[in-house]
Amino acid sequence: MIATFAEPVAAARWCAEQRARGRKLGFVPTMGALHEGHLQLVRRAAEENDEACVSIFVNPLQFDDPADFERYPRDFAGDARLLEECGARMAFSGTLEGFFPRGLRPDRSLDPRLLEDPGPAAQGLEGALRPGHFAGVATIVRRLFELVAPARAYFGQKDFQQTLVVRDLARRLTFPPIVVCPTAREPDGLARSSRNVFLTSQERDLAVAIPRALEAARECWRAGERRPAELSRALREGLARPPFELQYATVRDPERWTADEPREPLERAVALLALRLGAVRLIDNCALHTQDGAL
Ligand code: PAJ
Repeated sequence: MIATFAEPVAAARWCAEQRARGRKLGFVPTMGALHEGHLQLVRRAAEENDEACVSIFVNPLQFDDPADFERYPRDFAGDARLLEECGARMAFSGTLEGFFPRGLRPDRSLDPRLLEDPGPAAQGLEGALRPGHFAGVATIVRRLFELVAPARAYFGQKDFQQTLVVRDLARRLTFPPIVVCPTAREPDGLARSSRNVFLTSQERDLAVAIPRALEAARECWRAGERRPAELSRALREGLARPPFELQYATVRDPERWTADEPREPLERAVALLALRLGAVRLIDNCALHTQDGAL
């Protein structure tokens, strides 16, 4: 049976009891609307630790678009059932007030002094397009780490820049070790995402251009190209003639994050892109220098 809590303090108590019994906790933070991408993290957390626990919290601090926050899919009971099947022992949610009991101002917004500085990995790309997003992520993730005190925490490569921000955070806190898992994809290659349900069937067909573009960049790398400008050109050309709004299509050195695209040839590379398809914003990435695109 999975234990579920709607209050972070109750979840923290459960975690403390487990730790007192010497149980190592594997932790997967999520915003719910769970799909195979999340579940794969949970299975791995259950395998590699004594207990797996999961947070389900649509974190208002990290949304730069209020409409996106409002319509974000929410189904705690359905999510808890899926988690139980994957071997998770505990799932919890909460409210902003529950997470920061003394941290809210009279207008119910978070006291800005509690906002975590997300560090240099928050510069560029997602950080530039979504002001405040990574500060919101780092703030809630720090709070979650403090509540759960896990032996390991699991994140998906799907949100590559987020993994860098979280790794920096964990380094500053001196815990926990961060495990990054590969991106789970639909059979046609589209990365699984809680927002895919908002795609019309026509948009869903068009979205396959994203994994194809990533593959075009990988092909270019395999042909020996190492110059960032040429690799990102292959990525953009791989999108063909898009009826969508491209926000970025670029490459970075995955081990030396830079806000801007590097100019020097790369020894290893990750291709990243973000675009808007109708009302839905999609992001994806893959490594160019590894066999399967995983980092
Ligand atoms: P959410 O988007 O729900 O994602 C939770 C975790 O699942 C993240 O680590 C994300 O990278 C991973 N994930 C999502 N789709 C994936 C896929 N297709 N393959 C592999 N992993 C995937 O990311 C967040 O929530 C939030 O920012 C959070 C970390 C919970 C902080 O609020």
